[in-house]
Amino acid sequence: MAIVIPDELVINQAVALLRQGRLVALPTETVYGLGADAKNPEAVKKIFAAKGRPADHPLIVHLPDMSALEDWAADIPESAWKLAGRFWPGPLTIVLKKRLDVPSEVTGGQPTVALRVPDHPVALQVLKAFGGGIAAPSANRFCRISPTHASHVEEELGDQVDLILDGGPCQVGLESTIIDLSGLTPKLLRPGQTGKSEIEAVLGQLLALPEENEKIHAPGAMEVHYAPSTRTILCSKDQINNLKFSGPLNSDSKIGLLSFTKENPGLFLKTLQMPENFGDYGQSLYANLRNLDHAGLDFILIEQPPQTEEWRGVNDRLTKAAQSFDVFMSAK
Ligand code: TXA
Ligand code: MG
Repeated sequence: MAIVIPDELVINQAVALLRQGRLVALPTETVYGLGADAKNPEAVKKIFAAKGRPADHPLIVHLPDMSALEDWAADIPESAWKLAGRFWPGPLTIVLKKRLDVPSEVTGGQPTVALRVPDHPVALQVLKAFGGGIAAPSANRFCRISPTHASHVEEELGDQVDLILDGGPCQVGLESTIIDLSGLTPKLLRPGQTGKSEIEAVLGQLLALPEENEKIHAPGAMEVHYAPSTRTILCSKDQINNLKFSGPLNSDSKIGLLSFTKENPGLFLKTLQMPENFGDYGQSLYANLRNLDHAGLDFILIEQPPQTEEWRGVNDRLTKAAQSFDVFMSAK
């Protein structure tokens, strides 16, 4: 499918396709989304088919502005308006009780709906011209790395999508933070660039973290997700510096490295240096993982970033993309 740089004509074409129940990939500030008319169950089903995603995994509905919240959510708490007012447009998704007329295809059968106003001029232009909600998961095949460039969408979904709008590289690069406001206590379902403490400051309340047995409601919180095809291992700096050929690693192993330093201990076929700043790291992470995934390697080693609050979103994605060094080395 053609990748197109959007002008007014192309935006109109995208809107016409959406109205016909077809799929349009569009840039957001986080990752590229695979969009369909959220009020059209047949169109929404095409998203699941294209991604190979199980039908019970709910989608995020993207809105043109925060006043549209009332068209999708019921019993909207004051806290939702506060968060929307402070963080939208932006990389924050809010889960609320759904209105009865929201198709259950979109919500994977859940009584709640996930909503956000994205902060990307192309997404906003399409949403405003379309005038409704666009259901859009990340435009990758199920359990694979999210796309942060238009070319990644083509690589992932090829001709399964009717139009790919090219909005350049995504500025945030990690999927949105997801907050569940549908229950008694607000919960952080998925960390992202909008930080836990920033949200807590606006709510005047601490966010709970989901219990293990609740994770089924947020497939993004599943253990294996966002993963390269190449076996990927999260390591400390010491583990990298002292790496020896033992366990699954031998002198024939083709090993790639994603690290903060440039110097290469010699065992690595390909090294990519990552930014020290968590925002820049998050922005480039998926493109770099994709790059290493295409390099014909047996293993990708990732140097563990700091375990501090601001790195929470990055660390969450890394633990889902990779296994720990100790588990890896003890494997037969
Ligand atoms: O940044 C993003 O959020 C991107 C862009 C395209 O907006 N979208 C995205 O969508 O990451 P997806 O489908 O890959 O991830 C959506 C996440 C899933 O983890 C899903 O479980 C959660 O949102 N979600 C959607 N509806 C939900 C609901 N009603 N309750 C709980 N979690 C929900
Ligand atoms: Mg996804």
